[in-house]
Amino acid sequence: MAKQNFVGGFSELALGVCYYPEHWPEQDWADDAAQMRALGLRCVRIGEFAWSKLEPQRDQFDFGWLDRAIATLAAEDLKVVLCTPTATPPKWLIDEHPAILPRDPSSGHERGFGSRRHYDFSSTTYRDEAVRISTVLAKRYGSDSRIIGWQTDNELCCHDTAHSRSDSARQAFQGWCQERYETIGHLNTAWGNVFWSMEYPSFSTIELPFGAVTETNPAHQIAYRRFASDQILRFHDACCSAIGDHARNQWITHNFIPMKDTQTDCFSLAAPLDFVSYDSYPLGRSEFLLGLDEPELARRYMRTGHPDYTAYYLDQCRGLKDRGFWIMEQQPGPVNWAPSNPRPAPGMVALWTLEAIAHGADVVSFFRWRQAQFAQEQMHAGLLRPDRSRSDAWQEVETVVGVLKTLENESLPQPQAHVALVTDVSAQWVSDIEQQGQEVEAHRVAFQFYRALRQLNVSVDIVSTSADLSQYALVVVASMPIISNTLLEACEQSGATLLFGPRCGAKTEEFQIPPNRAPGVLQSWLDLQVNSVETLRPDVAEPFEYQGEVFQSRLWCEDLSVGSATVAALYQEDRPALVRKGRCLYLATLTDDAFLRQLLGDLLREREIMVHELPEDVRMMTRGSVTFAFNYGAEAHTLDAPPSAEFLVGSVKLPPRGCCIWRGE
Ligand code: GAL
Repeated sequence: MAKQNFVGGFSELALGVCYYPEHWPEQDWADDAAQMRALGLRCVRIGEFAWSKLEPQRDQFDFGWLDRAIATLAAEDLKVVLCTPTATPPKWLIDEHPAILPRDPSSGHERGFGSRRHYDFSSTTYRDEAVRISTVLAKRYGSDSRIIGWQTDNELCCHDTAHSRSDSARQAFQGWCQERYETIGHLNTAWGNVFWSMEYPSFSTIELPFGAVTETNPAHQIAYRRFASDQILRFHDACCSAIGDHARNQWITHNFIPMKDTQTDCFSLAAPLDFVSYDSYPLGRSEFLLGLDEPELARRYMRTGHPDYTAYYLDQCRGLKDRGFWIMEQQPGPVNWAPSNPRPAPGMVALWTLEAIAHGADVVSFFRWRQAQFAQEQMHAGLLRPDRSRSDAWQEVETVVGVLKTLENESLPQPQAHVALVTDVSAQWVSDIEQQGQEVEAHRVAFQFYRALRQLNVSVDIVSTSADLSQYALVVVASMPIISNTLLEACEQSGATLLFGPRCGAKTEEFQIPPNRAPGVLQSWLDLQVNSVETLRPDVAEPFEYQGEVFQSRLWCEDLSVGSATVAALYQEDRPALVRKGRCLYLATLTDDAFLRQLLGDLLREREIMVHELPEDVRMMTRGSVTFAFNYGAEAHTLDAPPSAEFLVGSVKLPPRGCCIWRGE
C-alpha cells in the first residue's frame, strides 16, 4: 500500500518523548537512549530550556554536550527535534539588559528572573537576542540529518505572558496606533474617547489600558490586544525566519497551548510553521475549564478529562493549518500545576494518545522521559521515575506501540467533516473585555456547540474566518461579535446551513454598537434586530419552546424584533428566541445542551447528514475508512459498528477507558 504523507517526516504514525539530557549524568544517556528505542519510541525532543548550558557567557558557546547527546540518541536510530531555548533567557542576558523583563499588566510589577518566559514581546533587544541564538543553532545544526526538525521557543504566551505593561510595550503600542489610525483625531473618534474625557492630544501620550481606576475603554482594550497579538507574531516570525534561513530539509513547528490562552491570532502564528504541535494535558486543563462552573462534571471526569475537551483542542490544531499535527507533550501521569493533580485512570494515557491520532496527530511525544529530581516540576510524572524505575504510563505506551503496529498498513488520511465551527480570537477578546454576565465566555460557548455536535457523532472542522466554507453542510458561528466581510463572503459562497449564535454581529471592528444595532451585518440575511440583552445568574434557567418541547434559556438572552423571518423557537410570552430565513438561523440565547443537540441534529438531518446520539462517555472519530471508538466512562458499552466492520483493535464490546478500532464504511 502507498505510504501517506504524515507531517514531520515519518512514513508511519510514531511516538516520541521529551528529554533533558542536561538534567542527568552523561553516563546515563546511552542507557536512556537504548531504553527509548526498546520501548518503540522514534524521536526525542531536546534543548528546549538549555540556553545557560549552550551559552554560559555571551558569545562563549558550549556545544560539546549537545553534540554528544545528539550522537547518543542517533546511535539508537532516534530522530532529534531540536528546540531553540528562547523561553528561558539566561541570567547574564537579563543582567545585561534588564528591560527585557516584562511587567505584570495589573500591578505593573516587573516579572523577574527565576522561572521562565521572562521576556517582553515588545523588547526589540530581546527579539534580536532570540534571533541571534536561533541563528547560531540553525547554522550549526541546520544541515544535520540526525535532526528532523525544530521547535520554536516553548508554549508561547503560557503563564499569561501575552500582555505586558512595560515601557517598551507602551512605546511600541503608540507606534502601532499611529500606523493604524494615522491621526489622533481618527483614534479618538474610533475609540469614542469623548465619553469620559479620555481624548488623547497626541500618539505619544497614549497609555496602556491598565491600572486605571475602573474599566478602561473597550476600544482601547481591543486595540491593545490586537497590538499584543501582532507583537507576538513579529517575534515568532523573526525566530522562524532565522531558523528557516539555515535549516535544510528540516521542518519548523511550535508547541501550542489551548488557543484561548494565547490571546493571539493562532492562525497567523501558525502561518510560518510547517505544521502545528500541541501540548496535551487533559486532566489539568479540564479542571481549569470545568472546575468552578461545572463541578459535577469536573468530579466525574477527574481522572479522564472531559470526553470532548481534549478533542476540541485537537480539532483546533488540525484546523490551524488544515493538516496533520503533532502532540509534542502528552501527559503521562499526574502533573504539578492544576488546583489538584489526580492520577489518570488506568488506560487513559493510551486512550489520549490514540484519540490524538484519531483526530489527526501523526506523532505523539510524551512529556517527559524521566521525572525531574530537582527544581520546579518534581511532582510531575514521566515515563520513568527519578530512580529510573518505570512509571504506570510505561505499560500504556507499550500498548500503543502495539496498536500502531496493527495500523501500519492502514490508509489514514486526515479526518473529513461536514460541519465547520468558525473561530476567531476577536470573539474571545470581546467576551473577556465586556463579559456582561458571569460565565459568559466565547470559548465556553463554542465548546458547548462543539460538544453537542460530537455527542451526535459528527466530526467538526474548526476553521478561521477566512476559510473556504464551500465543502460544509453546516457552518456554526457560535458567538462572534465582530464579523468580517471575508467571513460574510465565505458564508455567502457556501451552500451550507448557517447557524449564528447569540451576540454575533453585535460589535463593529472598533468595538461599537453597529449603527443598525445587533446583529449588524447579519441583517442583510435576517430581518431582525436585537432590542436588548439580559444576562442571568448561572443558577437560573428559563423555559423556551422549540418544536413543542421545552428547553432552557440560560446566562444570555436577547430580546428580538423580527420582520419577515420565521420564528422557530419562543421564550415565554411568545417572544422569539430562534429565527430562520432560508438557510440562515440566528439563536438569541444560550441554552442547555439538550436543545443544542436537538437543533443541530435537526439541521444536519435536513442536509441528510447521519447523526447518531452517542452515550455520554463514548466518542468516535474516523480517518479514511478506519474508525476509532473511545470510552471515557467506567462502564463497558456495546458499539453500534456497521456489519461490515473488521475490527483491528478490540471488538464491539468497548471496555471502560478503552479504545476499539475497526476498518469499514
Ligand atoms: C508544559 C511545558 C513543559 C512542562 C509541562 C508540565 O506546559 O511546556 O515545559 O512545564 O507543561 O506539565
